[in-house]
Amino acid sequence: MPKGIFISKALAASVVVVTASALASFLVMIIIFQEQIRAREPVPPPTMPATTAEPTGLPPNMRLPKDLVPEEYEVFLQPYLYAQVTNITNQSFAFTGHSVVKFNCVKPTSRIFIHSKDLNVNFMQVTNENGTVLHIIGSTFMEDESNFLEIVLRERLRAPGTYYLRTKFEGEMLDDLTGIYVSQYLENVDEKRFMVASQMQPTDARKVFPCFDEPAMKAVFRITIMHRESTTALSNAKETGSPETTEIDGETWYITEFHPTKKMSTYLLAFVVCLDFGSKETNYLRTAVKTWARPEAIEAGHADYAQSITGDILLAYEEFFNINYPLSKLDQIALPDFGAGAMENWGLIMYRETALLYEEGVSSTSNQQWIATVIAHELAHQWFGNLVTMKWWNDLWLSEGFATYISYIGVDKVNPTWNIKDLMVLNDIQSVFQVDALATSHPLSSKEEDVQTPADIGQLFDSITYSKGAAVLRMLSDYISDSVFQAGLRTYLKDHQYSNADYKDLWSHLQKAVDAKQGTENVKEVMTTWIEKMGYPVITINTKTGSVSQKHFLLNQTSPYKFMWHVPIRVMKTGQKVILDLLDVKGPVTKTAYKAVDDGWILANVNCTGYFRVNYNAENWERLLLHLNNSHSDIPVINRGQLIDDAFNLARAKYINVTLALNTTKYLSNDMEYIPWESALRNLDYFILMFDRSEVYGPYEVPESLTAQYNQINAISVACSNDLPKCTEMVKGLFDNWIDDPVNNTIHANLKSAIYCNGIRHSRGEGVGNRSGRDTCRILWTQDKIRKMDAVSTINYIARNVDGQSLAWDFVRSQWSYISEEYGGGIVSLGSLIDGVTQRFSTDFELQKLRQFQEEHAEDTFSSGTRALQQAIERTQANIKWVKENKQTVLDWFRGQHVESQGF
Ligand SMILES: *[C@@H]1O[C@H](CO)[C@@H](O)[C@H](O)[C@H]1NC(C)=O
Ligand SMILES: *[C@@H]1O[C@H](CO)[C@@H](O)[C@H](O)[C@H]1NC(C)=O
Ligand SMILES: *[C@@H]1O[C@H](CO)[C@@H](O)[C@H](O)[C@H]1NC(C)=O
Ligand SMILES: *[C@@H]1O[C@H](CO)[C@@H](O)[C@H](O)[C@H]1NC(C)=O
Ligand SMILES: *[C@@H]1O[C@H](CO)[C@@H](O)[C@H](O)[C@H]1NC(C)=O
Ligand SMILES: *[C@@H]1O[C@H](CO)[C@@H](O)[C@H](O)[C@H]1NC(C)=O
Ligand SMILES: *[C@@H]1O[C@H](CO)[C@@H](O)[C@H](O)[C@H]1NC(C)=O
Ligand SMILES: *[C@@H]1O[C@H](CO)[C@@H](O)[C@H](O)[C@H]1NC(C)=O
Ligand SMILES: [Zn+2]
Repeated sequence: MPKGIFISKALAASVVVVTASALASFLVMIIIFQEQIRAREPVPPPTMPATTAEPTGLPPNMRLPKDLVPEEYEVFLQPYLYAQVTNITNQSFAFTGHSVVKFNCVKPTSRIFIHSKDLNVNFMQVTNENGTVLHIIGSTFMEDESNFLEIVLRERLRAPGTYYLRTKFEGEMLDDLTGIYVSQYLENVDEKRFMVASQMQPTDARKVFPCFDEPAMKAVFRITIMHRESTTALSNAKETGSPETTEIDGETWYITEFHPTKKMSTYLLAFVVCLDFGSKETNYLRTAVKTWARPEAIEAGHADYAQSITGDILLAYEEFFNINYPLSKLDQIALPDFGAGAMENWGLIMYRETALLYEEGVSSTSNQQWIATVIAHELAHQWFGNLVTMKWWNDLWLSEGFATYISYIGVDKVNPTWNIKDLMVLNDIQSVFQVDALATSHPLSSKEEDVQTPADIGQLFDSITYSKGAAVLRMLSDYISDSVFQAGLRTYLKDHQYSNADYKDLWSHLQKAVDAKQGTENVKEVMTTWIEKMGYPVITINTKTGSVSQKHFLLNQTSPYKFMWHVPIRVMKTGQKVILDLLDVKGPVTKTAYKAVDDGWILANVNCTGYFRVNYNAENWERLLLHLNNSHSDIPVINRGQLIDDAFNLARAKYINVTLALNTTKYLSNDMEYIPWESALRNLDYFILMFDRSEVYGPYEVPESLTAQYNQINAISVACSNDLPKCTEMVKGLFDNWIDDPVNNTIHANLKSAIYCNGIRHSRGEGVGNRSGRDTCRILWTQDKIRKMDAVSTINYIARNVDGQSLAWDFVRSQWSYISEEYGGGIVSLGSLIDGVTQRFSTDFELQKLRQFQEEHAEDTFSSGTRALQQAIERTQANIKWVKENKQTVLDWFRGQHVESQGF
């Protein structure tokens, strides 16, 4: 996974800890932008080279023909980079290499199609198994998104037959966070260091050497790296021994050779060359686990937390899947520059520093949970994704949905006290419900032919793939029971190891597990709509009659589709046991399961194991609300959150009156749990985005328990964003102290996010944007540039702030050409950028601007941003309508509450 895309979204949505450097970036960004507006016009987009080459025989689509199948590669790479230079002019960003790929011809052909991008290939030779050289009559680099190198031979390759393609090539390493790239950082305060890192997923292995760069083209890789004296080279497999040394032109080089890898996909390859990185090592049964980071971070113990949990999670998975981790080593490394949040490269997992390094007292609890979750996610991929890989990117959810779902199981094993599994409802389900309620959403599994270009593939790394994928797996596991689900996963992994699978393979294994237990569930039948259609249903229950029905839930109620889901529904009645019903008709139908007993209430979707929303008749809502008021603990904590989230969203889609949704929050003063509070605050946040601010307040003290801590952060956020004077003063004070003396940070780690966010807002009143030159200098000095990997999250962070919103939008709009050029090709998501800066849009003026923006760029390939822009327009339309219809009712409700209780 390049988790980055998704991470930045999840971070933006929930409790974020903003480090001092991110804050600095934030201010720097504003200053830089203001400078830019003053100084110059937006940069025109670089012109693309015209397509000149005449393809000699392009396959019918952008997929490799299946007539050649790679078996084994030998790859030699030599990056010329110095890890440190006294004089930058003699630094070199070039690399050279050569490779041999052994492949089998299964269908006679005279054309070899292989991927190669941005490489200067200066030698090609094809031989047969006897070493006879075959005559090449021509070769073409396709200048389109196929990235094909086509080699035309005089004679046809025979099938079956084994052949070898030798190439020599050279390329350049940029700081673009894709392929093999250069990262810079400082050591001992001011010594500049350079390192080589890599990110192949999804389609950049082809930038490193010519290869059959598709996930199903698995092969064995024998890697050798030649690198500068004293540096360390890492790759997927263990090195065969100490590096050999050689002299070239008076300079010393190391040659590190690695053992052959397991049979694997190209997108999982990884390379690092670095100087002085330290590591912590622990042996876990068969596996040597090492955590690498900058030497200062290792010395300060920041890798200790990650190192302490990694082996435990690995062993827990080995037992859970009943398959051992197949490599003898597992390296994980924290990189100063990394585009994704983390990447599961087999045997060499890469992370952003913030996703791996934990600093006691500085990092917050949510930060620690985040680190554990990311590690558990990447380790889960070692089975789901690495050992068994999706046949093609259209089933990316099989890798990412699983890793997301399994990560909660992994974290729970190492820290059961966190109740992390419950948080999946907040972190994944509630958030993806938002996107999946739009008519511009998309199904979990796309058609294979609809996913061809790198941009098509990049667009799939979104919350549907990660979070909806995880949510429907959780639902299925609950439906057929966790133990049957686990049994099915075990045989699925075993049968498809070192190979590929699609979701139909998964269903067949889960079905066998169901049958083995004499179960009656039909996996394929139940799952088909969830996987192949977008969206989810709202289940409508009338507890007076016991009637139940389903309907596609869309923000603007008018679904043209006739989707029908098989919905497993757990139902709870006052004082009775939970029962499971399968609703496999549209309805309405009448079932006793949904008919209330006397004056009792009914609660459907217990623990929110199902991926759907529930609406009830007015009486049942009233009874549930009354019961929440009187004894809320009878209702499971997850459902207390879900009732609130369902009610607010049903109100947005006009299924119920908004006052009913607001009424669901009134019991909260008695509830100390995090999930219901966070559910309410996120939804109230939407109101705050749309409406004038109203007055709310919260206490200020650092409390003990985790959920209480979260609640405090929430309280500060809400109180301050509503301009409660006391809060404003407190935050401003803490923030100004910090600005004046950034080294002595007295802000509690858990409160940083809230304090910084609001501090900036209030200080801006006096002009932080143009604070005195002395302060600006200090801020600029703290960090001389925004790391490329932080650009999207930084802009989104600015956009979350009321005043920052228009600034961020103007920035994105005016710099779009530049941004899409710089980031469009990589895995950094333009989608989450557009999503972030347009969150608050709710006026006709903003809609008009969005449409204008869409028109202006109608010609551009919007790459991974296309769908997000359509979604932003749809969401804005819905917001405009909603605000018009509900503003007065909401304001009246708040005024009423104020009189009632001086708060909410
Ligand atoms: C870079 O160039 C300078 C001057 O040409 C030379 O003194 C120095 O040794 C070179 N550094 C490296 C790392 O080659
Ligand atoms: C850096 O090296 C280049 C040639 O390699 C030389 O022309 C230049 O003067 C050097 N600069 C310094 C500051 O040493
Ligand atoms: C390779 O050599 C063997 C033995 O000489 C011969 O039988 C075989 O046909 C040759 N293969 C090819 C592809 O020419
Ligand atoms: C709902 O959305 C569709 C597509 O965006 C639009 O054509 C239709 O007018 C909308 N309906 C309402 C009632 O807003
Ligand atoms: C609901 O989840 C809680 C944990 O939050 C668990 O203790 C409880 O057993 C679950 N209830 C059902 C019916 O599965
Ligand atoms: C919702 O209820 C309020 C009174 O509680 C009423 O004034 C308002 O018109 C209702 N809104 C809708 C859309 O029915
Ligand atoms: C919300 O609660 C108020 C009492 O505080 C009540 O008058 C109103 O009818 C309720 N609204 C709905 C839609 O239940
Ligand atoms: C840190 O700041 C706090 C409050 O601003 C102050 O009381 C304390 O003396 C400072 N500590 C140092 C070491 O400067
Ligand atoms: Zn992933």
